[in-house]
Amino acid sequence: MTITATITVDPAAVVAPIDRRIFGSFVEHLGRCVYDGIYEPGHPTANADGFRLDVVDLVKELGSSTIRYPGGNFVSGYRWEDGVGPRETRPVRRDLAWHSLESNQVGLDEFARWCKLTGSELMMAVNLGTRGIDAALDILEYANHPSGTALSDQRIANGSPEPHDIRMWCLGDEMDGPWQTGYMTAEDYGKLAARTAQAMKAADRTLELVVCGSSGSNMPTFGDWERTVLEHGYEHVDYISCHAYYQERKGDLGSFLASSHDMQYFIETVVATADHVKHKLHSDKTMKLSFDEWNIWYLDEHQASQEVNDDWVFAPRQLEDVYSVADAVVLGNLLITLLKNHDRVASASLAQLVNVIAPIMTEPGGDAWRQTTFFPFSVTSRLARGEVLRPRIDVPSYDTAVYGAAPLVDAVATVDRDAATGALFLVNRHLTEAIEVTVSVAGLGLTSITEAVTLHDDDNYAKNTMADQERVGLRDLDSVGIDGDTVTVTLPPVSWSAIALGT
Ligand code: AHR
Repeated sequence: MTITATITVDPAAVVAPIDRRIFGSFVEHLGRCVYDGIYEPGHPTANADGFRLDVVDLVKELGSSTIRYPGGNFVSGYRWEDGVGPRETRPVRRDLAWHSLESNQVGLDEFARWCKLTGSELMMAVNLGTRGIDAALDILEYANHPSGTALSDQRIANGSPEPHDIRMWCLGDEMDGPWQTGYMTAEDYGKLAARTAQAMKAADRTLELVVCGSSGSNMPTFGDWERTVLEHGYEHVDYISCHAYYQERKGDLGSFLASSHDMQYFIETVVATADHVKHKLHSDKTMKLSFDEWNIWYLDEHQASQEVNDDWVFAPRQLEDVYSVADAVVLGNLLITLLKNHDRVASASLAQLVNVIAPIMTEPGGDAWRQTTFFPFSVTSRLARGEVLRPRIDVPSYDTAVYGAAPLVDAVATVDRDAATGALFLVNRHLTEAIEVTVSVAGLGLTSITEAVTLHDDDNYAKNTMADQERVGLRDLDSVGIDGDTVTVTLPPVSWSAIALGT
């Protein structure tokens, strides 16, 4: 029997105007993300700074907006001063987070230049693991003060005459995690983060500060952590962070395809907790969420491996997940969930960007290529313009071991009323059956289809590899049609699709 779904897009059901920061990404000094990733001085495409321009082109195509830097766990032991000034005098340090050596050949000034090359916004994290207010104020002065102070003049002498003007700053990373260098109780972190935020805002009250939330919804302190931290710093910070990674476990693809249920639960819990604190403190401010680490990550397998070991080496191959079609479908669904919650999730960062759990892979001296997960991100970043609309979806559910009943189809819509364009993003979670979907877009004035693509393969586990870099790609969605203001489309099983609409 044919499975059908009906989707109604109500032009008035506006979630939020689209802020490009929802399409952010993340570059950490970890494995081969920076070294032999974005930076490889000997590569044929490298520029004067040593950055690979073939990677820059792929980052632009991916459509990353804000890029969080330099960690991650790495930042909790980082001395930012090591990464500025003449490269030949920069020290080699031990990175305890990933047990590797850090050459400091890339630091703040180089990375700010790389962000300009890619057209992205730099979002900086300060070290609240081994350091504190003093170091945070110093990097802020170095990065943002125009001139005439010790550290701003040092930046100018180092070849960056203009301030980097970094707007978003993370107050540490995952300080709730026992794996974090210098991790703390919520009480201790809440006090330190509040004081650091207050001091940073005394320097520049227009900064946007992100306080650490939980490292996952499975953390034992989840909920309490957010409440305690926000009770200390509510008036000084602008965002609370969320981090979530998903993977298929024990061959249970059905549950994996419904991973966005956990992301939705995570967001709702943090929103409820933040609003509780808001009302308790009689605040006028509504806290925004920065979902600044999210992705598919086969963490169980990495933890069981020997790739993070006792050796001290530069840029080891760590966390180099090779993603399947199913992984890409889940990633597309997570992005749909972020958009559906864009009224509160104002910023997000796909973790990470190159080689390390990344949509882009590179080989030293060789190629750069797109993983399967590249496609839903790049197409959504390109087509989602204007405002997010929350559709009503009527579709049967299926049973999952982890999340119970889950709808077979998920979707979100966007509309750019000025440009008279729109887009639909849809997933079919059924393992074997196509689903016939009817979408009403009445009232939007959009009556033609300008583009329709799908990510699907007969092999759910097909991947792009160095040897076969284009095994998986987008395909035309042949089954789509529009009659007046009704779109009809057949979604293949285990697929992510995008349909662009015009007049
Ligand atoms: O993205 C990889 C790691 O995941 C980050 O360093 C850390 O913040 C998180 O645990």
